[in-house]
Amino acid sequence: MSGQGPEPVSEAAGDRGVLIDRIGTLVTNDPALGEGSLGLVRDAALVLDGGVVAWAGPRSRVPEGAADERVDAGGRAVLPGFVDSHGHLVFAGDRTAEFAARMSGRPYTAGGIRTTVAATRAAPRDELDRTTAALVAEARRSGTTTIECKSGYGLTVADERRSLEVAAEHTAEVTFLGAHVVPPEYADRPDDYVDLVCSAMLDACAPVARWIDVFCDRGAFDGDQTRAVLRAGAARGLLPRVHANQLGPGPGVQIAVEVDAASADHVTHVTDDDVEALASSRTVATLLPGAEFSTRAGYPDARRLIDAGVPVALAADCNPGSSYTTNMPFCIAVAVRDMRMTPDEAVWAATLGGARALRRDDVGHLGVGARADVVLLDAPSHVHLSYRPGVPLVTGVWQAGRQVVG
Ligand code: NIG
Ligand code: FE
Repeated sequence: MSGQGPEPVSEAAGDRGVLIDRIGTLVTNDPALGEGSLGLVRDAALVLDGGVVAWAGPRSRVPEGAADERVDAGGRAVLPGFVDSHGHLVFAGDRTAEFAARMSGRPYTAGGIRTTVAATRAAPRDELDRTTAALVAEARRSGTTTIECKSGYGLTVADERRSLEVAAEHTAEVTFLGAHVVPPEYADRPDDYVDLVCSAMLDACAPVARWIDVFCDRGAFDGDQTRAVLRAGAARGLLPRVHANQLGPGPGVQIAVEVDAASADHVTHVTDDDVEALASSRTVATLLPGAEFSTRAGYPDARRLIDAGVPVALAADCNPGSSYTTNMPFCIAVAVRDMRMTPDEAVWAATLGGARALRRDDVGHLGVGARADVVLLDAPSHVHLSYRPGVPLVTGVWQAGRQVVG
């Protein structure tokens, strides 16, 4: 790993104690430390040491001599770094013309993915390294400290493996998405493509990935194909997550629950049975407001999911087709304004919700022992993330205790 991305190499992590003092509002996401589900502490302090959180609480109780360095937050808000659990960062080219056509009335379809597949296959490795690193850096500037990254624009054995190697330079959360769409050379024999994914492609790709994902939707893969790919991935030790029910109703959510996927992503078109299945599982519903924003589609019904007890995450879904943004504060603002999530729910979903969607307990919160991934806002409260849409409020970012922004 390069150590430049959202997940720096741990032995190089911040080894000098840092006290972040005079915090106006501290979001810990640990109800044992503060008020409500966000574990809010007012007039707080936070101590980072050895790459982890060493202490969090009211500043009146901060342990004496807790750190060598003091940062004065000046009454501003501090929260856990964003955990963006859904990204397609390894690609070449863009789809400006498709976006412009869509904004003049053309609908979004899965077929546009093939435009990016052609550009990605043609791109040299160093170009993919550069463009991926640039997106990761862009995400970090808006407060993302953990990011998931999928393949899915290569769709040959060599091109999928190459995309995963690029992703692995930046994150441990690497996802094999060979089943994104059927590539053009297999257009009239999709089952042969599924067989390739389930055999040689997975053999080459599984060693580089942690997760397996399938785009289970109209224009992509059906229920039987999705099950076959997830089963083949599981046989090689990969953990499942599913692109489910983005473009229309379908079996994606039910399959995600059936295989105990960490997350069902999009979840835009769901039935009562889908909601019930999610509520009685540990599969997180990851909502991707950037996709509905940029495809001018109806948003998922976050209230229905949350009110049924489904854990919800928010992620940026950065990709050149449906959601060309890395900006988690933007996603929070849209989720609050247009999906009727409360400001607190949206901040939880973009931090601890994302961590749950990646089955991680070391990120997404600032309890003692958590990785010291921290965001300082130029605002007195986390609510400003939705109250002040479009304003670049992230002014400081620490990853594993080391300051990387600010
Ligand atoms: O999550 N839904 C599938 N994949 C992406 C879109 C990819 C593209 O259009 O290039 C998504 O929205
Ligand atoms: Fe996606």
